[in-house]
Amino acid sequence: MKKIALLGSTGSIGTQTLDIIRANSDTLCVHSLVAYSNEKIYAQASEFSPEYCALINKDGIDCLTEAVKGADIAVVATSGISAIGSVLYCLDNGIDVALANKEALVCAGELIMSKVGKAKLYPIDSEHCAISRCLAGHDRKTIDKILLTASGGPFRDLPKKQLGNVNAQQALNHPNWRMGAKITIDSATMMNKALEVIEASFLFGVPAEDVEILIHRQSIVHSMVRYSNGEIIAQLASPDMRLPIQLALLGEGGNYSCDSPDFARLLDLSFEKCDFDKFPCARLGYQIFEYPAICRTVMNAANDVCVERFLQGKFSFAQFYNIIIAAVDHFCNKARNAELTSRNIFEFDAATKSYVNELIDGEQC
Ligand SMILES: NC(=O)c1ccc[n+]([C@@H]2O[C@H](COP(=O)([O-])OP(=O)(O)OC[C@H]3O[C@@H](n4cnc5c(N)ncnc54)[C@H](OP(=O)(O)O)[C@@H]3O)[C@@H](O)[C@H]2O)c1
Repeated sequence: MKKIALLGSTGSIGTQTLDIIRANSDTLCVHSLVAYSNEKIYAQASEFSPEYCALINKDGIDCLTEAVKGADIAVVATSGISAIGSVLYCLDNGIDVALANKEALVCAGELIMSKVGKAKLYPIDSEHCAISRCLAGHDRKTIDKILLTASGGPFRDLPKKQLGNVNAQQALNHPNWRMGAKITIDSATMMNKALEVIEASFLFGVPAEDVEILIHRQSIVHSMVRYSNGEIIAQLASPDMRLPIQLALLGEGGNYSCDSPDFARLLDLSFEKCDFDKFPCARLGYQIFEYPAICRTVMNAANDVCVERFLQGKFSFAQFYNIIIAAVDHFCNKARNAELTSRNIFEFDAATKSYVNELIDGEQC
């Protein structure tokens, strides 16, 4: 039995991970469950009888590390940066990590990747799972480009000048995926792709410039790798996060199978360039590497605040990029002298959040 620590058990990825554990109860079991405050965790605990169960708002952030002790693999499906310490603990102590959480790699990519070896790191993000499938058995030196696909979100066909008027309800209406609110807004602004370019750069050891964003409306091709001989390898599957979760936990051997795309009826696959002028947040995935490493935390924290304020109806969709880059520029000098450590990541995260809240209040965006 593989013992799973599930961090973020009540969220979109967390509950789908439990679906995969149910489907594979002969080989997988729940070692621990952690959520923030959602009481749904009690029903989960009664179904799966974990050895450890905690709510962060009651038991404190250390429960994220307590929960992984004794597990074979940790599924990290929390939102935000709180699980960074737990991810580092796992990799230091030979516990494999199945990582859905983007923020950990975005903010602490160098720290995390330097510890991979004793324990393995499996990406659960569908694009990164696809890329790792396309890379399997290939020499990384022969990668020419990683082609990172993106649905384009709910506003892919809306003219740029109308983007200033969209509201949270429209932005939450993702055409292809059902996900948590934060990542759904990130998909609408295409900040999600900026985060994914950074993730891919760390996970696969390539410069961000070698990761090209490609709009693919159908979300069937989950990403591709082009090799120096011109060959392109792709992974195709229905948009269903349970596939990458199962691949991370069991490889190809699991019992769950997602619906396969029907080549005879459905498949009209299209690809377009990303419009960085219309979705400037996507550009941040490249631009941020011109700044000191800790500025990725500033970028991420500024975006967190923008998403929160937008969901409250107190912030314009058109302002995301300007506010995020203003925060990055504001903290750039201080960041130059800051070493990339977990402690500094948490300090810059907090400082950025209060700065951006004040900026938004002041400007009444
Ligand atoms: N959803 C997807 O399809 C998808 C795909 C790829 C990657 N991801 C990434 O996976 C992560 C989770 O996404 P999601 O869509 O599953 O999010 P979600 O539905 O919002 O769930 C977030 C989970 O994290 C917990 N949580 C909330 N605040 C927390 C905090 N401060 N510290 C630790 N945990 C906290 C939540 O607990 P409560 O319920 O108690 O609040 C919940 O269990 C994100 O980093 C996202 O970018 C998601």
